[in-house]
Amino acid sequence: MKRMLTGLQPTGVITLGNYIGAIKQMIKNQDKYESYIFVADLHAITVPKEDFNLKENTRSLIALYLACGIDPKKNTIFVQSQNEYHANLSWVLECNTYFGELSRMHQFKEKSKGKENFTAGLLTYPVLMASDILIYDTDIVPVGMDQKQHVELARDVAERFNNKFGKTFVIPEPLISDVGTKIMDLVDPTKKMSKSSENQNGVIRLLDSSDEIRKKIIKATTDSDSKVKFDKDKKPGISNLINIYKSLTGKEIEEIEEEFKDSNYGQFKKAVADTVVKEIEEIQKRYKEYIDSDIIDIILEEGLKKTRLMAKAKLDAVKRKIGFYN
Ligand code: AMP
Ligand code: TRP
Repeated sequence: MKRMLTGLQPTGVITLGNYIGAIKQMIKNQDKYESYIFVADLHAITVPKEDFNLKENTRSLIALYLACGIDPKKNTIFVQSQNEYHANLSWVLECNTYFGELSRMHQFKEKSKGKENFTAGLLTYPVLMASDILIYDTDIVPVGMDQKQHVELARDVAERFNNKFGKTFVIPEPLISDVGTKIMDLVDPTKKMSKSSENQNGVIRLLDSSDEIRKKIIKATTDSDSKVKFDKDKKPGISNLINIYKSLTGKEIEEIEEEFKDSNYGQFKKAVADTVVKEIEEIQKRYKEYIDSDIIDIILEEGLKKTRLMAKAKLDAVKRKIGFYN
């Protein structure tokens, strides 16, 4: 079975878009691969953020993933900062990565643009990511399009190290997660539903109250027609609601159009709201059970124990190849 690893930053807000586009994909993948999921909290400190509670956000993210259906028996789950070997290997890899490569990364260019005072961590961020990946002999790395270049850098660094010191690292493959449906903003259905959106009325968050969710869906922007028909260009609002309904019920578009052929937009929106609220209420119920329970601590402890052993073995092999005193 191939090994898959992915890291998630503890940003604290998970949207319906993340749930449908990413988490549901992860749940599918957990049966296909030997899967490792970690909270990338070391990456979260590259850009200083105010009002950012790392500890709480990390726990909340894990509780939410478990509540959504990430199965701890099928996934090894851990927190990056607890496993000291990641940062240790990262230093060795930094000494095998060129400044030019790092300064050409899109994310670095975008985040440092026009700023005089950004940290060295913003520049070396992709090397730590390479370390996360290479330390476990990872085959597959599911990421959003914005992170593809970083996985490619991890491949380059691994190949360079292997050529210089002999075969040490597995060359990883990115798996771009655009296969899932793209969920659009409810207020402006021509743009992606995003946690950083200015108008939060267009964004459903998994920890929103049922009332808030209902209101947001009922007020969602639609066209002046009244037919529940899928047409992404002419009816982006209704098409987005159809997509949401489709993703949560597993029904086909034609089936949905048939189901609502005699309904007006209000009736259709109510059905969508009922479906979303029902699914999110179940997630929130499980979330409440997880967040205050010891289960999270037990899962993280097991994950750490296992990944520390694996990571230490790889780092030891790397140190031997380089010829450090031991
Ligand atoms: P982000 O929230 O942009 O860091 O994305 C995290 C993951 O969620 C990525 O795999 C994205 O592809 C996915 N994702 C984020 N927003 C959406 C959306 N509106 N629809 C579908 N997938 C999304
Ligand atoms: N940089 C990734 C992001 O912002 C998170 C991440 C850190 C990651 N290390 C990783 C993803 C290793 C995949 C593999 O989304």
